[in-house]
Parts: sequence; C-alpha cells; structure tokens
Amino acid sequence: MPEVNLLRALPQTKRNIEKRAAAQTAENIAISRQYGREYFDGPRELGYGGYRYDGRWIPVARDIVAHFGLKAGDRVLDVGCAKGFLVHDLMQVCPGLEAFGLDISEYALMNCSPEVVGRLHLGSADKLPFPDRSFSAVISINTIHNLVRSDAVTAVREVERLAPGRGFIQVDSYHTPEQRDVFLSWVLTAKFHDYPKGWLALFADAGYTGDYYWTLV
Ligand SMILES: C[S@@+](CC[C@H](N)C(=O)[O-])C[C@H]1O[C@@H](n2cnc3c(N)ncnc32)[C@H](O)[C@@H]1O
Repeated sequence: MPEVNLLRALPQTKRNIEKRAAAQTAENIAISRQYGREYFDGPRELGYGGYRYDGRWIPVARDIVAHFGLKAGDRVLDVGCAKGFLVHDLMQVCPGLEAFGLDISEYALMNCSPEVVGRLHLGSADKLPFPDRSFSAVISINTIHNLVRSDAVTAVREVERLAPGRGFIQVDSYHTPEQRDVFLSWVLTAKFHDYPKGWLALFADAGYTGDYYWTLV
C-alpha cells in the first residue's frame, strides 16, 4: 500500500497558527531557510523552538522497521535527518541495523546525538552521494517540500535510485482549500507544496514506486 501513515505513533503538537502567521515575514522566512541555530533552537516563530531528543521517534522507528522488514546488517538512510534522532532510534529498536542520515544543515549535524556521530552526512536531498541500490530502505520526512519542484523531482528520483520501491516520503499537503489556508499561515520553509494529487504527479514524474504520506498542519 503506497499511502501509509508511518508517523501515526508521533504525538500531535499543538500549534499556535495566529502567532506564526504574524511572524511570517520575508526576513524570518530567510532566516529559517538557513537551517541554523535559529531554525532548530531559536524561537518558535523561526522554526522548531527547540529541537531536542525526547524519545518520541522510538515507536515511529519500530513501525518503520516492521513496515520494511528491516533486520541487523541492513542499511537504512534518513534524508533530512536533522540531529539524527530517527537514525538513533532506528538502531536502538533494531540492534545491528546500519542507519545513516543526510542533511543540509551543518548546525544540526554539529549538534547531533552522540551515538550517531560519523553516521550523518552533510549534503542535499537532490544529490545523494551513495551508489545505486545501496540501501534496504530510504526515508525522508518533511524535507523534500523544502526544494523547488524541479529539485524535488530530482530528490524523489534519488530516493528511488538508492532503494527502488523501498522509499518512504512524507511531505506537506492539504485536502481542502480551508486546510490549504491554514497551511499557508503556518509554512516557513516549504518551497513546493500541493494537494496529494499534485504530489502524486510529481512522484510519477520522478518514476517513484515507494511509499508516502502527508503532513497536515
Ligand atoms: C522539518 S525538518 C525535518 C527533520 C526531521 N526529518 C524530522 O521530521 O524531525 C526539515 C529538515 O530538512 C533539512 N533540509 C532542508 N533542505 C534540505 C535539502 N535540500 N537537503 C537535505 N536536507 C534538507 C533541514 O535542515 C531540516 O533538518
């Protein structure tokens, strides 16, 4: 089943849409898109408002391992891994699994969990520095929408190249014009977003055969 909610175990966060909408200035958007300290550990108006490990990804990691049937010795890549919390938890729930990450943020990598030092690569989702078919699964959560459409197509193609039919991509989307309006008052970093139909067209353009799901504000 290509549409699968692998993040169903993640707790829902309460978002203050009005406060964020008021802070959606061109300057704040530019700062957020640098993916530095301000985005991860600055005020909520600029991004996460504090991106700290709290174990919330452990049940998600279990669901990913079960979904892909991952086992010791398999290699899994998290594209847009940030500080590597999911990489850490994947190895915790599946001992012997070789988990790796890649992110464009030097700040995130320099502030990663100590257990994943050396497992996280600096790079961009549209140019993954790994051979074809080199991973048992490739995950990318809330990252590919940060690229413009043409680069997002390339990034999705990269996921497919590394793990044909064994990808999971979650991206920003909405089902109704009302949800779209709420999303537009929240979004800071996304450069491409669409209804699921638009994303499915993008996946088709990339020849993607893996799984996916939507982040709704
Ligand atoms: C919303 S965060 C998601 C982090 C993590 N996957 C999660 O779900 O908690 C987006 C991440 O994408 C990264 N990112 C943005 N553009 C990127 C690109 N072109 N290539 C790789 N990572 C990128 C950011 O640095 C950030 O870590």
